[in-house]
Amino acid sequence: MDKAQETVIKEVKQLIKQAKRVCILTGAGVSAESGISTFREAQDGKGLWSQYDPKQLASLDGFLKDPEKVWQWYQWRREVNQDKKPNPAHIAISQWQKQAKASGKQQVTLVTQNVDGLHQQAGSDPDLYEVSGSLVELHGNIWQNHCLQCGEKHSDDVTGTQQVPKCKPCGGQVRPSVVWFGEALDEKKWQAAETAAYCCDLFLSIGTSSQVYPAAGLMMLAKSQGAKIVEINPEPTQSTVVDYQIKGKAGKVLPLVF
Ligand code: OAD
Repeated sequence: MDKAQETVIKEVKQLIKQAKRVCILTGAGVSAESGISTFREAQDGKGLWSQYDPKQLASLDGFLKDPEKVWQWYQWRREVNQDKKPNPAHIAISQWQKQAKASGKQQVTLVTQNVDGLHQQAGSDPDLYEVSGSLVELHGNIWQNHCLQCGEKHSDDVTGTQQVPKCKPCGGQVRPSVVWFGEALDEKKWQAAETAAYCCDLFLSIGTSSQVYPAAGLMMLAKSQGAKIVEINPEPTQSTVVDYQIKGKAGKVLPLVF
């Protein structure tokens, strides 16, 4: 790490110490060191959206056209994710949240675009969005499913099957509880995320290409209210509102700054 980056890390550490309300937004990059593919990186052709068509596999239209294909793709992703473990980035964030909660001096809300459940596995509290300092899984969770027709939750009873399961109460098709392109976010979750971004004095964007809205807009919202913006990414994005850029892997950088 060069001298300039060491200085930025020192400044960010200071900001972290002083902040009262923090909003962290994470993306696929935070799970990269756990061995989970990101979406848009070339990564020698391993980025998910360079191998698969999101219109077919991550949209309601795609599911209605070929439910089996979509269901099996998510089953495959679950299999791939099954043995993956939280890495030092997930753990550092969760420990910070716990310390902040215990001290009562800071609120650290974690908003993630990831559906892999690794923040939860690392100990971040999911979706208790009335309580700031929790985890908001903005794009859902790949381990959960619900009925397309009646909304009934089907979490554990359908893992492993390669056929699209039928909802017991109504006979509808069961789908993964992740947000697909063109779908609205859960209103309560979005409100929690917006509130965290609007009220924070420090916003950390970690491992996201900041290309997918509305999540990418949270950084601008925080900036408009005077928050300092920190980005941690080995490939800094083009975002013009970033105040501090740390060029490095989340799993290496986060244990240094918290
Ligand atoms: P992307 O694949 O678009 O971006 C991943 C980012 O992580 C890139 O900017 C990488 O440079 C960075 N990165 C890679 N390794 C890293 C590491 N070790 N530490 C830190 N950063 C690293 O993924 P997202 O921004 O999360 O949505 O994509 C947003 C949404 O687009 C996803 O939630 C998903 C996708 O389509 C849905 O499925 C609805």
